[in-house]
Amino acid sequence: MKNVAIVYDTHTGTTKRVAARLQVAFGDPMPRLLAVSETSMEELADVGLLILALPTWGVGDLPDGFEAFLLELATVRFEDLTVAIVGLGDQVGHPDSFVDAMGEVCEKVVSTGVRVVGAWPTSGYRFLSSRALRDGVFVGLPIDEHTQPEQTGARIDAWVAMVQKHL
Ligand SMILES: Cc1cc2nc3c(=O)[nH]c(=O)nc-3n(C[C@H](O)[C@H](O)[C@H](O)COP(=O)(O)O)c2cc1C
Repeated sequence: MKNVAIVYDTHTGTTKRVAARLQVAFGDPMPRLLAVSETSMEELADVGLLILALPTWGVGDLPDGFEAFLLELATVRFEDLTVAIVGLGDQVGHPDSFVDAMGEVCEKVVSTGVRVVGAWPTSGYRFLSSRALRDGVFVGLPIDEHTQPEQTGARIDAWVAMVQKHL
């Protein structure tokens, strides 16, 4: 069984709340929940499944903390690490760049040779464009607490059940 950690970034607290719900959905043993700005690579040394949770702010921007974290991650060789991504966004307010940051994180992680799991279908979302799409599906789980908060619980439960198969 692999150790799981959830590393999140947030500007206004939404992603932190969603990350805590993800932690509960994983159940026992609970994954570690870590703010990206306080996460060292040493802390992740025994982690086999790393969940990265982050919002998209601005068009195509990654939160600053994640830029630095991914640069560091690229310098470390983890044995058998798998990554899965959760992206917070607003498909009505930002339909042209819905959860774009998730796509950028995926690209950077894959370029380090680490495997990304947890792709999620686009059905149920309404948006125009997203850089988080690969082969017609999202590279991770989009969560929209602005316009579809009632779907968050079911989405988290289904996604966690899927990702847990990689443990
Ligand atoms: C200035 C601004 C820009 C945003 N840009 C995007 C965007 O490009 N794509 C998107 O899906 N959501 C966008 N959002 C929505 C945020 O991702 C969303 O509010 C998210 O839940 C914030 O998470 P946080 O509270 O963890 O920071 C934007 C929000 C603001 C205020």
